[in-house]
Amino acid sequence: MPSTILIVDDEKNIRRTVRLVLEGEGFGVEEASSGEEALARLPDIGADVMLLDVQLPGISGLETLERLREPSAKGGANSVAAATTTETPGTTGVGSASTAARQQAPIPTVVMISGHATLADAVRAVKSGAYDLLEKPLDRERLLVTIRNALERRAMANEVAGLRALADERFEMLGRSAPMQALCSQIAKVAATRARVLITGESGTGKELIARAVHRESPLRDRPFVKVNCAAIPPELIESELFGHERGAFTGAVARRRGLFEMADGGTIFLDEIGDMILSAQAKVLRVLQSGEFTRVGGEQTLKVDVRVVAATNRDLQAAVTAGQFREDLYFRLAVVPLRAPPLRDRADDIPLLCAAFVEATSRENGMRAKSISTEAVAMLAAYPWPGNVRELRNVIERLVILSEDSIGMGDLPEEILAEVERSRRTQAAQVGSPTTGLPRIELPPEARALPLRELRDHVEREYIRVKLDENSWNISRTAGLLGIERTNLHKKMRALGLGREDR
Ligand SMILES: Nc1ncnc2c1ncn2[C@@H]1O[C@H](COP(=O)(O)OP(=O)(O)OP(=O)(O)O)[C@@H](O)[C@H]1O
Ligand SMILES: [Mg+2]
Repeated sequence: MPSTILIVDDEKNIRRTVRLVLEGEGFGVEEASSGEEALARLPDIGADVMLLDVQLPGISGLETLERLREPSAKGGANSVAAATTTETPGTTGVGSASTAARQQAPIPTVVMISGHATLADAVRAVKSGAYDLLEKPLDRERLLVTIRNALERRAMANEVAGLRALADERFEMLGRSAPMQALCSQIAKVAATRARVLITGESGTGKELIARAVHRESPLRDRPFVKVNCAAIPPELIESELFGHERGAFTGAVARRRGLFEMADGGTIFLDEIGDMILSAQAKVLRVLQSGEFTRVGGEQTLKVDVRVVAATNRDLQAAVTAGQFREDLYFRLAVVPLRAPPLRDRADDIPLLCAAFVEATSRENGMRAKSISTEAVAMLAAYPWPGNVRELRNVIERLVILSEDSIGMGDLPEEILAEVERSRRTQAAQVGSPTTGLPRIELPPEARALPLRELRDHVEREYIRVKLDENSWNISRTAGLLGIERTNLHKKMRALGLGREDR
């Protein structure tokens, strides 16, 4: 598709000349005779480059440029309040702002043109985001070179923006179930403060996404977010990773190195898998949390940082404290505001939405046509308990999208998921005595757990026969027929089990 250039000039002759030059080079060309007209038509034209005269009737070229770059009113990307209203379907507050921002029409790259531009004009133009300023009369070659350069830079900027959007999307928390809404409102509240947050939850529930959301929604959002995987760093390196080291502090320390706490100064440090941190490192972390002070490994100087600490773990930290594996004082310092990531089975309502989002994202990321997933397959996935939570669901969907044809159906689902759902459906049906299975609900006495097998079997048999007799008004022949045994046999069983008419 040819790039589109919008010429904004009130002089018809100039518009015509420029059009001839640009069309001759294969560009698409649009014209506007005023700033107002250009602004109004831009969303429809979707120009890549705008040639904008400085002097225009009505609003000037510089003003047009400034209005163009004003963040649109719906942006709200910087406000927690805006981000907590559910605007984008399917997204809860946290993260929806970035989606809104992505949907705005891209702004064209602007090249100003002027008959007698002053230096002040030029400075103001560049400050307002213009790419370049050309003098009239326009030189053909200069015009073409400038436009080509502008387009090239634009392509690069688009690529970066695309990558960033993709990265943001990876960190977007999806879900609108009650547990997710509660969580998002807690995140919004805690993000506005500098309180320390301890995120707990099973593996794959989105603890890292929560940590990033806390940072993104906080006043520190433009400062660094530094993630530390405490479980992945070898114990002997963890101190130097966190606090840095001086040259020669240990074999291999060839130069002084800053630690992660220093890098996070002014921002947020995310101590992931904190439950796996060794005790000696815990003592040092405790010191930073108490005083903001630390010392590099092998150093003497006391350094000071100002960081917000967010930690996460899938371990039961309180149990680790009891077991002497985790310092209690550190636990209390970290867990000022505890946030809990709900397991996916407790928010099965979100599964259809997550399926749709992951199918879409995987298709797009792999450059495939958008695939679809059948309602039955989604219902099946929603009934599965997902021990690996969202991560497991995401992996399964990615695999399905890559391996299946255009539409994903029941038959494509992994065997173990089908089997598990079938199994749990059967047990559930038996428990509630569903009419489809014909199985009655049998109450077991509390002591049943301790009964010898024989007694337990007798108990169940007795109750089952009694229910069947009840259903058939104690008609022995009919009940025996339904139970698939001889009439005499049923009499014998009733006697043995002590079942009589008085049990009715
Ligand atoms: N609410 C959610 N919406 C969309 N994707 C999610 C959500 N929760 C988790 N995910 C995705 O699931 C995967 C696991 O998330 P994350 O790494 O945050 O989990 P975790 O709780 O930190 O797991 P672990 O304890 O194993 O470290 C990621 O791919 C993440 O994008
Ligand atoms: Mg994690």
